Amino acid sequence: MPEALTAGLEDFGATVVAWQLRHGRHTLPWQNTRDPYRVWLSEIMLQQTQVATVLGYYDRFLARWPRVVDLAAATLDEVLAQWAGLGYYSRARNLHACARAVAEQHGGEFPRMAAGLQALPGIGRSTAAAIAAFCFGERVAILDGNVKRVLGRVLAFDGDLASSAAEKRLWAHATELLPARDTDRYTQGLMDLGSSICTARVPDCLRCPVQPMCRAQRAGEPTRWPVKTKKLKRGRRENWWLWVERQGRVLLQQRPPTGVWAGLWTLPMFDDEASAHAALPGARLEALPRIEHALTHFDWVLHTLRAEAPGAAPELPPGGTWVAREQLRDYALPAPLKKLMQGG
Ligand code: ADE
Repeated sequence: MPEALTAGLEDFGATVVAWQLRHGRHTLPWQNTRDPYRVWLSEIMLQQTQVATVLGYYDRFLARWPRVVDLAAATLDEVLAQWAGLGYYSRARNLHACARAVAEQHGGEFPRMAAGLQALPGIGRSTAAAIAAFCFGERVAILDGNVKRVLGRVLAFDGDLASSAAEKRLWAHATELLPARDTDRYTQGLMDLGSSICTARVPDCLRCPVQPMCRAQRAGEPTRWPVKTKKLKRGRRENWWLWVERQGRVLLQQRPPTGVWAGLWTLPMFDDEASAHAALPGARLEALPRIEHALTHFDWVLHTLRAEAPGAAPELPPGGTWVAREQLRDYALPAPLKKLMQGG
């Protein structure tokens, strides 16, 4: 039988636990609680989003909706408006659906095991495990992007993570590496290592507690792992926004329920400059500096044409509505538009 890939790593878990205790993060607002609502909310916000960004949203969410049943009672539009700027808006839609499922199908209490949590909207295997470990001490492995990097390197795992079979094997190794106890601290320790030491481009191996047992480090080339071949082919899109204001009101249009910024509100959007002009015939339009917005799959170039002293009101586009400037904060605007309209 070939030697297990995790052979020789018997101290890995305990080493991560001891390091987390001394050097990890302990004062983030979603730590020092076992309330699954608070932990769940943080884990969803932290997917694809930096801690520093989440900090600005997390407390506001909790102040507005202190319990999961409060969030369940909110409308989706209210949740999207609070989420605006965090990006990846399917998270907000799933957040709302999940709160409703917990309220309606689980009597307002989150399931206490990863398997039950994973059945809820928007909670994948790793997020379910993180909540179960942090709140209920379940001995179960996480494997988010950061942890794939840490374990991929420690093990010098040669499987290509673009393949689901390889990913499944790494999940099995993640489970083998779990320490006998302190899964909560171990889980936080892996997250902390991934974000502060075992970073994507320039890992700080000299400060790494598991450096003596790291096979990637021993190979002298830690960034060779993890292996992932599938390269994203990035596209490019270009659109024109028409910014019309009359009598203190701005014309907004709600985006369709699918696609980028689904359900959010933007300025009326056109595929080319001529169509934007045609929507407001005769108006003098000022071109504002273009905005370049990078999304996962494409770069979006957004041009804004601002109507100066428009005469007649344009025809209301589908999903269009006039919104008083003071009311704008109640609408879910994507981050670049918020910035544009606040002038900076
Ligand atoms: N990223 C995902 N979960 C996290 C957590 N609990 N603490 C810090 N960063 C995280």
